[in-house]
Amino acid sequence: MADSLGIVILAAGKGTRLKVDIPKSLCPMLGKPLIDHVLSNLDSFQNEYELQAKISVVVGHKKEEVKKSISSNWADVSFVTQEEQKGTAHALQCYFEQNKDAWDSKYTLVVCADTPLIGKEEFGKLFKALQDDEDAQASAAVFNTPNPTGYGRIVMGGQGFDIVEEKDASEDQRRINLVNSGLYFFRTSHIKEHLGSIENENKSGEFYLTDLFKKSFNVKAVNYEDSYKFLGINNLVQLEEASLIKQRNIILKHQLAGVRFINSSSCYIEESVEIGAGSVVYPGVTLEGETTIGQNCILESGVVIKNSEVQNNCSIFANSYLEKSLIKEDVRIGPMARIRPGSEIGAGSKIGNFVETKNAKLDKKVSVSHLSYVGDANIGENTNLGCGFITCNYDGVQKHLTTIGKNSFIGSDSQMIAPITLGDEVYVASGSTINKDIPSGGFGIARGRQVTKEGMAKRFLKKKD
Ligand code: UD1
Ligand code: MG
Repeated sequence: MADSLGIVILAAGKGTRLKVDIPKSLCPMLGKPLIDHVLSNLDSFQNEYELQAKISVVVGHKKEEVKKSISSNWADVSFVTQEEQKGTAHALQCYFEQNKDAWDSKYTLVVCADTPLIGKEEFGKLFKALQDDEDAQASAAVFNTPNPTGYGRIVMGGQGFDIVEEKDASEDQRRINLVNSGLYFFRTSHIKEHLGSIENENKSGEFYLTDLFKKSFNVKAVNYEDSYKFLGINNLVQLEEASLIKQRNIILKHQLAGVRFINSSSCYIEESVEIGAGSVVYPGVTLEGETTIGQNCILESGVVIKNSEVQNNCSIFANSYLEKSLIKEDVRIGPMARIRPGSEIGAGSKIGNFVETKNAKLDKKVSVSHLSYVGDANIGENTNLGCGFITCNYDGVQKHLTTIGKNSFIGSDSQMIAPITLGDEVYVASGSTINKDIPSGGFGIARGRQVTKEGMAKRFLKKKD
């Protein structure tokens, strides 16, 4: 049996007004392409109302790129091609031509790819308005705005209303503040009856979908108070505006769940991020992707964390940068540390300033307090790596592993020429370049012997005139 609701997302347009080289529907907003926001809002709507509609996206400009991006996250979405963009009504025509089953759906929902804030409540209200009025043929979401520039104006009259695009509007019509959001529900029979007769006699020479609304039709304009939800992204100013609105809601959710922000407006937190109660976020923090922060953590200013897990009671000090890593509980990192992909920092460990780790597994209570590089390494519990410790992991072709056991002490300014293995309770003297394995309990020293000549310094100390 065919679905009683078909969903079409219009995404074939160039997005010329954005003035960027990527298709508008893929423009990033809070870490996700614009259209992914629309798709996930539709998903929530369908879950809430127990619907299982088929979703089709009309693609055109850079269609392969758009299809690839959407398919990678949304397996059930299908595509319709609009080779030449002749307007929104033409886009809908392409949908029905390439999707014959779509005529069987009782209702058709049309939404633009550039309205990322329309949520399940807005979809639900508009759907209900049409379902509850058996005589109505379509419902359009409209709202009042002090700045109607760019939107189609709603001109009420007769049984319904006209939607007049900005370009075609008279002076008087341009002063109308009631505008079209670009979200509609139709009885599919209404589309079948009128879509074919839409003409392109207007300033743009385009076939307007908005011509499915007329004063002579029984169509409903459903007014929404929360006009910001319908913000359409046509330029980069609106993109930032929508992004900040969504960001505010994300932060609000964390604040109400017990996360303390010192200056939330300066932070960038993506929707996928989780933060435990009791944590404090300083100004200018960036948290991206699949990132989880535990309870009672401190994230100081300038911290950037991407796709990482930071467990409870950690302090990440100013300007530290973490990527694809696991930080276990009670760890201190930074200031100014770089934790690169594949790092696993054991509970109670300490990573100090100007330390870089990469693909490094540090067990519990390891200390790397200053100026070090720990790459491709396994470091045992309770081992101390002194200031200026370096794993020489790369021979110019391949990366090699450094293994150091537990309870060891590696003196400052030591290098490990990998591959190399040091056992437990090893002691390495400062300034050593270690290129041979050291067994457990062993002492290693590898540096030139010191020679001291008394009184000889004056030969080298130059006198200042
Ligand atoms: C549209 C509405 C306008 C409304 C506004 C709300 C029309 C004619 N106008 O204007 O009344 O106030 O949205 O944001 O519908 N698209 C295609 N194929 C095309 C043309 C456009 O798929 O041939 C897609 C675009 O990719 C976009 C959507 O349709 O996602 C809307 O197009 P856009 O150019 O943004 O229309 P607006 O000028 O914003
Ligand atoms: Mg638009």
